[in-house]
Amino acid sequence: MNPFKYGCIVDGGYFCARPKLAKQLSDYIASGQNLVVQGERRIGKSSLVTNTIAKIRGYRMLYVDFMDVRTVADVCNQIADALARFEAEDSFFKRTVAMLSHLRPTVTVDAMTGMPTISVDSRAAQDTSSVNTMLNAIADHVKGRKACVVFDEFQDILEVRDGKRIIAMMRSKIQFLSDTPFIFLGSARNAMLDIFMSPKSPFYKSATVFDVNPIPDEDFYRFISGRFKTGGRRLSRDVFAKMLAFARRTPGDVQEYCDAVWQVTSSGDEVTDGSLELALRRIFERESSSFSAFARRLTDIQFRVLRTLAVLGGEHPLSGEFLRMADVANSASVKRALNALSAADLIYNIGGEYKFVSPFFREWVRRIKARGN
Ligand SMILES: Nc1ncnc2c1ncn2[C@@H]1O[C@H](COP(=O)(O)OP(=O)(O)OP(=O)(O)O)[C@@H](O)[C@H]1O
Ligand SMILES: [Mg+2]
Repeated sequence: MNPFKYGCIVDGGYFCARPKLAKQLSDYIASGQNLVVQGERRIGKSSLVTNTIAKIRGYRMLYVDFMDVRTVADVCNQIADALARFEAEDSFFKRTVAMLSHLRPTVTVDAMTGMPTISVDSRAAQDTSSVNTMLNAIADHVKGRKACVVFDEFQDILEVRDGKRIIAMMRSKIQFLSDTPFIFLGSARNAMLDIFMSPKSPFYKSATVFDVNPIPDEDFYRFISGRFKTGGRRLSRDVFAKMLAFARRTPGDVQEYCDAVWQVTSSGDEVTDGSLELALRRIFERESSSFSAFARRLTDIQFRVLRTLAVLGGEHPLSGEFLRMADVANSASVKRALNALSAADLIYNIGGEYKFVSPFFREWVRRIKARGN
């Protein structure tokens, strides 16, 4: 069985322990501190937080995923879902359903898991005040108990009409739950910064910043080579270092790479440079239609800027060398292209450097030039 997973929260054998961060996080949680967890995409924020809380004795986790919420009813339903998972016990369940009665809740049993789920009526839950009802239900569950609330992809609430009001409402409710640590996670760094670092935001300075950095190289090597070993593959430090550099030490991308390397190797094999190349081609095959579609949507200038980023890197995109290679007349045009590429979510800016969201797309773009098409 393929021992690698990517694009989801990992646990058990798929999760590489991060004892130092886990210890810091547990200490914060034990002291009731609210946290905003930051870190680059696919660095392992959600996995670290959920695995760490699961290991703190006696603590329960109420995990709400706000990914892609677009309406007030979506926000309510994500919370309802989390409550149902938090408390499957019958009496609590009935109490929750009673608390939500004016949102006309329906209880169903998930066919796959056999677990009951609650959903509210989308017409009944149109008004932002419905979120208040849900927050009261959260308070009812966590008050006086050892519990920790995790709000993942928190910034997506801003995509809801009146999102700012919902966020302000949350802030005032959370203030009264001072014994319960709330942990906010998000993958859109700028939106999260706006919520927690802007003096105008109700959440300004309301949570301690907790940074998630890459997994220490040696720990990650031991973990990844151990996973390969379960299927009889050997991985040297040198080859691993190449994968790390390619994936810029992002665990989610390293695991995606490993997943492909696994597919192109067999038991008894040593992973070589050749396996890395085959693995990349495997990924390009799988992604080629979406990569081509991304590329087709760009203007000529945007594509040239993207290609130059892939070749030169994104530290000095306004330099003379960059402009020459991209064949763009002035830095204002490069800037406009960079903004468009960021808006299309192909690249992002961190600390002044532009990076590709996906290292595999970066390599695909880089090679297109080499082939001249
Ligand atoms: N501790 C870990 N051990 C092994 N792999 C990990 C670890 N943390 C993250 N990963 C890899 O990264 C992927 C993404 O992890 P996770 O969803 O936790 O990251 P994230 O930072 O929350 O991502 P996003 O920015 O998309 O929210 C996982 O599917 C896994 O492949
Ligand atoms: Mg996440």
